[in-house]
Amino acid sequence: MAKMKLQKLQSYLEDIDEFDNPKILLEQYPTTPHIAAVMLHEIQLKYGDIAGCSVLDLGCGCGILTIGSVIKGAAYVLGIDIDEEALEVCRRNLDEFEVSNVDLLQQDIVNISPKDSKDSQKMLSKNFDTVIMNPPFGTKKNAGIDMEFVRAALMMSTNAVYSLHKFKTREHLHKKAQDWGVSIEILGEFKFNVANTYKCHKEEEVDIKVIFVRFGHKK
Ligand SMILES: C[S@@+](CC[C@H](N)C(=O)[O-])C[C@H]1O[C@@H](n2cnc3c(N)ncnc32)[C@H](O)[C@@H]1O
Repeated sequence: MAKMKLQKLQSYLEDIDEFDNPKILLEQYPTTPHIAAVMLHEIQLKYGDIAGCSVLDLGCGCGILTIGSVIKGAAYVLGIDIDEEALEVCRRNLDEFEVSNVDLLQQDIVNISPKDSKDSQKMLSKNFDTVIMNPPFGTKKNAGIDMEFVRAALMMSTNAVYSLHKFKTREHLHKKAQDWGVSIEILGEFKFNVANTYKCHKEEEVDIKVIFVRFGHKK
C-alpha cells in the first residue's frame, strides 16, 4: 500500500465524505483529494515518514489525511478535532474504509500547552513520529491559530511536521522555525480552491495560494 500510485490514492480519497454542516468559524474547508494525495505521496516517497510510523492529524475534520496516512501504511494514526460533528463524519468514513488502527479525540488544540500537566496532554507530548495537517489559516477572528497548530504539532512529534499554510505567511514561518530551532522546507505550492461552501462567498469559488511545508526536528 505504501507504494500505491498517486492517481490510485487520489481515487480512493475521492470516496471520503465531506463536512455535513461546515462551520466557517472553524475554517472547515476540506483538503481536496488531489492535494491530499500529492502531500501524502511526497511525504512517503521523499522522506519515508508515513509507512510504519505513528502519525498525528491535527484538525482532522472528515479524516482525509488520516485515512490517506493509513492507506500509505501508517502503523497508527490519531486524529484530533475540536468539533464533534466533524468527528462523527470522520467516524463514518473510517467505518467505510474499514480501518482499525485509528483513534479520534475531541480536543481544542489551542488549549494544549507543554505547561499543562493533564494526563491526556502528557500522553500526547512527543508521542508521534510525524504530524500531517491542514490547520485553520487564522482568517476568522482567530489570528495566530495556524502557528498554535504548528507549535502543538512540534511539541507532539519527534521527527517532522507537514502542514499547509497561506503563501503570504512564509516569511513569518521561517522566522518562527528559527525561533523554535527546527528546520523548514517549502515542498510545493497549491491553489486551494475554496468552493462556494459558505453563503458569504459572493464569487463562485475562491482560490487561496498555499504552501506545503515541512518542519523537521534537528537530530
Ligand atoms: C481546514 S480544515 C481541515 C480539515 C481536514 N484536516 C482536511 O484536511 O480536510 C481545519 C480543521 O481544524 C479544525 N479546528 C479548527 N479549530 C480547531 C481547534 N482550536 N482545535 C482543534 N481543531 C480545530 C476544524 O474543525 C477543521 O476540521
